[in-house]
Amino acid sequence: MARISYDDQTATAYKAVREVPRDGLDAWREAVRRHLEPAPGMTVVDIGAGTGAFSAHFGDWFGVDVVAVEPSASMRSRIPRRPGIRVLEGDAAHIPLPDDSADAAWMSLMIHHIPDLEAAAREVRRVLRPGAPVLIRQAYPDRPDRERTFPWEFFPETARTTGTFPTLEATCRAFAAAGLHRDALEPLPEVLMSPAQFLDRVDVFRRSDTSMRDLTDAEFEQGRVRLRRAVEESGHTPRSNWLDLLILR
Ligand SMILES: C[S@@+](CC[C@H](N)C(=O)[O-])C[C@H]1O[C@@H](n2cnc3c(N)ncnc32)[C@H](O)[C@@H]1O
Repeated sequence: MARISYDDQTATAYKAVREVPRDGLDAWREAVRRHLEPAPGMTVVDIGAGTGAFSAHFGDWFGVDVVAVEPSASMRSRIPRRPGIRVLEGDAAHIPLPDDSADAAWMSLMIHHIPDLEAAAREVRRVLRPGAPVLIRQAYPDRPDRERTFPWEFFPETARTTGTFPTLEATCRAFAAAGLHRDALEPLPEVLMSPAQFLDRVDVFRRSDTSMRDLTDAEFEQGRVRLRRAVEESGHTPRSNWLDLLILR
């Protein structure tokens, strides 16, 4: 059971405002390339693939085959259907792939939805070939400055929810129990949008984001006031968000 329902309304909002523009992901593309060492014929399993934005990026950037595993039918229906992307129903603890069949696992902004991280880690280990990496794109509550990262800085009460997400320490412990150990950790920027664009989209954004959904209406409106002020100051300059890329092998 995910923390929020990825129903049709959420999936529509997610597709509209949460997919990071591809040209904002240069740092991610290059870091993933270094750790993945992509080669023709490689299969990457995108676990909790959502609307499939990264499934498409991985295919286009690296020419690899992607298996997009996603539990929500509404999110799954928005994954691009095209050669090189196989779309399957499943979740992190039930990956519909044979043992030792994937060359890497990609888990982006989804580990906080997994009810039993150790069980999921065992399942990920099962489907990966020995030595294959797990690449996790995530914000951890035990990493510095997380709560000031754009655009959540305008809504500091989102920390109430993100503070309950798995820590880096707990994540590494769960995967280590399954035989997958920390290999690298890199904070990476992604260019999201300007404060002005965020202000335009903030109501839709709220519907798609786990931590913003938990805000009271008063907290949300206070955040909107802060955001309006930022728009008046430097509102049209695109801003970046920072997340960690964790590699386990
Ligand atoms: C915030 S979205 C991230 C989507 C995509 N990975 C991305 O980065 O754009 C979280 C996704 O995780 C999925 N999810 C929830 N619980 C899951 C689980 N136990 N195993 C796998 N995916 C899960 C949700 O359905 C949703 O599509």
